[in-house]
Amino acid sequence: MTTVRKAVIPAAGLGTRILPATKSIPKELLTLVDRPMISYVVEEAVGAGCTDVIIVTSPGKAALEEYFRPAPELEAILERKHKDELLAAVREATELANVTFVTQDEPLGLGHAVACARDAIGDEPFAVLLPDELFGGPSLVRGLIDANARFDASVIAVMEMPRNEISAYGVVDPEPVDESIVRMKGFVEKPPADEAKSNLGSVGRYVLTPEVFDALTRTKPGAGGEIQLTDAIAAVGGYALIHRGRRRDAGNPRGYVAAFVELARERGFPV
Ligand code: G1P
Repeated sequence: MTTVRKAVIPAAGLGTRILPATKSIPKELLTLVDRPMISYVVEEAVGAGCTDVIIVTSPGKAALEEYFRPAPELEAILERKHKDELLAAVREATELANVTFVTQDEPLGLGHAVACARDAIGDEPFAVLLPDELFGGPSLVRGLIDANARFDASVIAVMEMPRNEISAYGVVDPEPVDESIVRMKGFVEKPPADEAKSNLGSVGRYVLTPEVFDALTRTKPGAGGEIQLTDAIAAVGGYALIHRGRRRDAGNPRGYVAAFVELARERGFPV
């Protein structure tokens, strides 16, 4: 089985869609039932075989780092009180993966955030998981890893989007390969709907080859004045895997509430 060892989770954004909560709480720490959003995403990366998780954060998000640090005093109390389940849950954050942090000093865009992880990644394929989207398990990232090995190229996850939503996404100009894979003839960040080459919008999971880092150094600010990951991927080319399963976008109030309620129901809470 091929493996991709390292995963980047860009978590440096301002979380403006969930203000005012995100004024003092990093968006990635908002809870879904009893765990912060980001812990589901770390678990997804680990489930897909990744052992090292690099979180790109920004100044002022110290609480995010703290969540992944051991808490010896709390652990000692839980141990003394024989609260074994809680102790295991608390330790999970530090034991699940080798989590490290790099700081993006300025909010220059998703592409710039991923470029900040370059030294931590080195010269090997790596996964990128956007932390406000949940896919309910590791199978999508696993599929991207397998496709990366098959084509020896970057592979992004896409979904068939309604036409009226397509301009919120990176959009692929596809050349069919098989039932669930297309080759990208082009990849454009947030095109106007009438210029979109397909209804395939990129969702927040990628497995990229390290050539993307060189492309990022050449990438000029694009859509929204930001350095876009989409533009760097378009420059190196690659494939897209069509995901036909579930996706939860918890990065806006409506999606966040829906994700919370659905996950609570799955856990047996009467909501
Ligand atoms: C980002 C990416 C975009 C992608 C989207 C998926 O945009 O830039 O290509 O389609 O995530 O959610 P954002 O939603 O952060 O504006």
